[in-house]
Parts: sequence; C-alpha cells; structure tokens
Amino acid sequence: MLARCLCLFALLALSSACDQWPNTTETKVNWWQCSNGPVMVTNVNPTDKSGNSEYPIRLTEPLLIATSINDPSSTYTTPGLKQTIKVWSWNMATCGWSSVPTFGLLNNIDACTNGVPCPIEPKNKVINLELDFSDTPAIINLLKNDKPYQLEYLLHDDPSKEDLCIIFQARALTHT
Ligand SMILES: *[C@@H]1O[C@H](CO)[C@@H](O)[C@H](O)[C@H]1NC(C)=O
Repeated sequence: MLARCLCLFALLALSSACDQWPNTTETKVNWWQCSNGPVMVTNVNPTDKSGNSEYPIRLTEPLLIATSINDPSSTYTTPGLKQTIKVWSWNMATCGWSSVPTFGLLNNIDACTNGVPCPIEPKNKVINLELDFSDTPAIINLLKNDKPYQLEYLLHDDPSKEDLCIIFQARALTHT
C-alpha cells in the first residue's frame, strides 16, 4: 500500500514538473509573428555573421536573424522606422517567462542604424536583422549562460503606423 502511494506521488511530481526547455528550445528556435501585416514573416533562421545557421544562438557577438518576408506594399526607412526589443528569461519556479530589464536601451530606437538593413521594400525576400547585445553589457550580464530566452523584436513605422513583430524563443549562450 505504502509503495503504491509513493509511486502515485512520484507520478504526480513528474507530470507537474516544469520543462527546462519550453517549446523544444533545447534543439530548435520557436518563433511566431505578433503583428497582422502587411508584411508577413514566413521563416526565421538565426545565423552567425557569415550566414551559417547557428544553434544555440550566441548573444555574445552580433547575431543575424534571417527573416523571410512577404512584403506586398510597404517601404520602411530612417528616421521613421523604430525598433523595440523585449527580453524574457525562463523561470522554472513559475514555469513561465520573466521579463528582463532593458533599462530603456532597446526602446523605440532608430532601427536603420541599429541592425536593420534599410530600406525594407516590397522586393525584399529575406532581411537579415542584426541583434547585438555585446554593446549593452548591462543587459547581457543579467542573462545566465545556456538557458532558454524569449525575445520580442518589434519594428514600428511611424509614418504608416505599421508594425512588424516577431517573437522568438531560443536556447542562448551569453558567456564566452
Ligand atoms: C509555445 O509556443 C506557442 C506558439 O508556437 C505559444 O503560443 C506558447 O505560448 C509557447 N509556450 C511558452 C511556454 O512560451
């Protein structure tokens, strides 16, 4: 009887355990689009500077997010195109995402001088969005090495009021 009870407890504990790598981030990036167009994202592929696929991603050096887009009509460029990046770390205690402070460093900054190959035009099929946390040590120093992170990458075009937003979840190395 006692053995059966213990076994039941063990099963309950297992089923309620939090996944260390949510959404299979241990082995691959998980992404979705968080805007409704007009630009539609069809693929997201993190690469190193030479364009080779890279996983886990490394936040210690500039990272390219090769983003395949279907852009029917919009042209975005400086100074109207603004970039905001939000970061979350995976919290095993709550089994949810916890927001990481970015100290306003990544809010509404000029996208075209911060890693976006401007202009973004209808003829673009793949745009390489560069992410570079190496110049924001205040943020990178908060991030534990080899953990799952969630990033929201938002481009907002002031003149047209259009958004291009991608959320991606990835295993990331944050120390060399
Ligand atoms: C896992 O990914 C899906 C979309 O692919 C998302 O809706 C869900 O919130 C994600 N779960 C976590 C824990 O982030």
